Amino acid sequence: MRFETLAIHAGERPDVTFGAVSTPIYQTSTFVFEDVGKTRGYDYSRTANPTRKVLEDTIAQLEGGKVGFAFATGMAAETTIIHLLKAGDHVISGDDVYGGTYRLFQNVMRDFGLEFTFLRMDSRQTIEEAIKPNTKMLWLETPSNPLLNIVDIEMVVDIAKKHKLMTVMDNTFATPYLLRPIEYGVDLVVHSTTKYLNGHCDVVGGAIVTSTDELIEKVQFLLNAMGTCASPFDCWLVLRGIQTLPVRMRQHEENAIAVANYLKDHPAVNRVFYPGLDSHPGHEIAKRQMKGFGGVVSFELKEGIEAVNSFLRRIKVFSLAESLGGVASLAEHPATMSHASMPEEHREKVGITDGVIRLSVGLENIDDLIDDLCQALEPA
Ligand SMILES: Cc1ncc(COP(=O)(O)O)c(C=O)c1O
Repeated sequence: MRFETLAIHAGERPDVTFGAVSTPIYQTSTFVFEDVGKTRGYDYSRTANPTRKVLEDTIAQLEGGKVGFAFATGMAAETTIIHLLKAGDHVISGDDVYGGTYRLFQNVMRDFGLEFTFLRMDSRQTIEEAIKPNTKMLWLETPSNPLLNIVDIEMVVDIAKKHKLMTVMDNTFATPYLLRPIEYGVDLVVHSTTKYLNGHCDVVGGAIVTSTDELIEKVQFLLNAMGTCASPFDCWLVLRGIQTLPVRMRQHEENAIAVANYLKDHPAVNRVFYPGLDSHPGHEIAKRQMKGFGGVVSFELKEGIEAVNSFLRRIKVFSLAESLGGVASLAEHPATMSHASMPEEHREKVGITDGVIRLSVGLENIDDLIDDLCQALEPA
């Protein structure tokens, strides 16, 4: 089956008990045994749950992977992955990953003896020079949050194979509709399903997909042992959202292209970060490895923080809020919101200046979005 059909039919749908078309929410902590030592496939919802299983199968099939796992949040999924490593191991990560990922690595996992190097993943030489005898994992995010930098996945996987390193790719921004990292040989795909997969800003969730038998076993073990799994109701919300993922992604992109083109010619704007623009340094790679460029557009205002505050106070259709990927357009200020947990000097180094604003371009009428940007930029 093709992507659009899988998004609606993958997993056990309609359900086997009564044929419900909408996947039932198995809101239960535990399951009655058929006999001593004999279950009907489920015993306790931390370990596995039928609603969760439909979501996990759906995400796995959409990513072209073997097995999926659903988590309470994107960070719960990331926390689970990083526990595949042990004290003394070294990870090379993109330098402008989501602020919470950076915080998990720097402020939590370092205390447990893991080492991290953050760098721009745009050159084979830079990555290879950073590899040490204890390096175990390459962590990539493309397009990255919030600067929409593009990583050449083929190049990174090639380096990883040569040096026998595990690759993890955060596919939150692209979604499997636009990019399927497993086809490039990535070992573990991770998601904040809070974003486009759910698409309606009514849940927080995470997911992991892998095709490697050894990793399937380890991730299932950690999910159960650490209790990082998603609740049945949250899984149902993500499942409902996924059914419309392809149509939403197509419209998000159409609106984002119009917004990026509008902003790039605006006198108050210094730079626009959107991989769909010819001028974006990763445009050619994005064109090659993605089916489209997604719905997030970031831009930098010439006048810095004063202009940013004025813009954020004036927006009316866009809402000032964290998160992205929902039907409603959102605007946020990475330096004080999504990436506030990154130290200022690291933010400045990687280009997340105080003048950068990130837009999650929603599905409203494009003329209303452009009118809103136009009036909000006026005083800048
Ligand atoms: C790219 C990316 N990865 C991971 C996360 C973390 O996900 P969650 O907020 O669902 O824990 C986010 C959240 O903004 C994100 O943008």
